[in-house]
Amino acid sequence: MAPEGKGKAVGSVIIGSGKSLPERVVTNDELGQIVDTTDEWIVPRTGIHTRHIAVHETGTDLGAQASARALGLEAGGWLREKAIDPASIDMIICPTLTADAHFPSQAALIRERIGAVNAVCFDMSCACSGCVYGTSTADMLLAASAADIAAAKAAGRPPRPNPLRRILVVATERLSRLGDWNDRATCILFGDGAGAVVMEWRDDADGMLSSYMENTDDADHVLWCDSAFCDRPLPFDAVSDEAARAAAEAPCDPYMRMAGQAVFKFATSAMVRCIEEALSRAQLSPEDVALYVPHQANERIIRYAAKKMGMPSERFQVTIDHTGNVSGASALIALNEALVEGKLAVGDIALMAGFGGGLTAGACAFRI
Ligand code: COA
Repeated sequence: MAPEGKGKAVGSVIIGSGKSLPERVVTNDELGQIVDTTDEWIVPRTGIHTRHIAVHETGTDLGAQASARALGLEAGGWLREKAIDPASIDMIICPTLTADAHFPSQAALIRERIGAVNAVCFDMSCACSGCVYGTSTADMLLAASAADIAAAKAAGRPPRPNPLRRILVVATERLSRLGDWNDRATCILFGDGAGAVVMEWRDDADGMLSSYMENTDDADHVLWCDSAFCDRPLPFDAVSDEAARAAAEAPCDPYMRMAGQAVFKFATSAMVRCIEEALSRAQLSPEDVALYVPHQANERIIRYAAKKMGMPSERFQVTIDHTGNVSGASALIALNEALVEGKLAVGDIALMAGFGGGLTAGACAFRI
């Protein structure tokens, strides 16, 4: 149990958590039949044994199931108290790189599926930091709305429209669709799935204690995926027929690309820097955190962070062995598994950390 009174309570409490993983499990040996790789190469370098691949599930299917579990509409999730009425959700934020459609947003498609009839919806593109960017943004919006409601009450005026008390953050990813299945350096790393939390503002509660987000230029394109639009010629381009033809025939790379060692270097330093910043902002020491719940990109990155923090590796939740890297959903899935397995109890302090394309990174500390 974490020490009482540590950190600064700001009131956004996680009241539900859920996950969804596709049915199909793909082993390293199966990948060895597609590209030149082996289980012996993959496991020691990444910690990944298997990953779930969405062969028939959509991002909406996965996101809706994770959300339904976080709300208690379907078994398998974690609830702080009782089931949550979907109509009580004021907003849905969906961090994703692989929305089912350009529009409607992925969040709006999930809204329709779960019956969150009062929610306003939008997606977030922040790659594998979605767990932190999503929950931190939800926390800031809930805090701003609570402050406005209090100020309006004191001034005897109505609060601004769209008061926010409950926000669903649901990250859903099908990175299998962005991966090049001929590129052994990337296709072995990623998996599909969704993770969700419901956050509620409580005036008398201890919830999110601190958050920190940062962005660094990716000038060298170490983590990159072009838009599927590419630069197709428009009827307004003043170019010759030949140039237009050449542009139309220019190769369009629809897959994500990664400079593995450069990303590894960025990831290890960003993870430790962000954790330290989130701890310092909440006036916590590393020992105060009952469980670190990091983005699952590579088990070696997680072990490095634990060592740098001087913490035993058991204090870091690891799910990458059976999920692979599920981008922004990774840490939300890891958090859900920790809650369901009882590794985290109400009152404990947890810390999520993420990093990824952008280059984005961040961490947030919160009391369960
Ligand atoms: N199977 C077998 N060999 C492979 C392979 C695979 N799946 N992938 C790469 N290799 C080969 C390379 O071709 C290279 O061969 P060469 O020496 O003959 O050229 C060799 O293994 C070493 O490649 P390298 O890229 O240096 O390996 P690595 O030890 O850096 O490990 C990663 C590669 C991807 C596991 C590692 O760099 C990593 O985890 N990076 C961070 C990735 C990450 O976090 N991404 C997501 C961020 S959100």
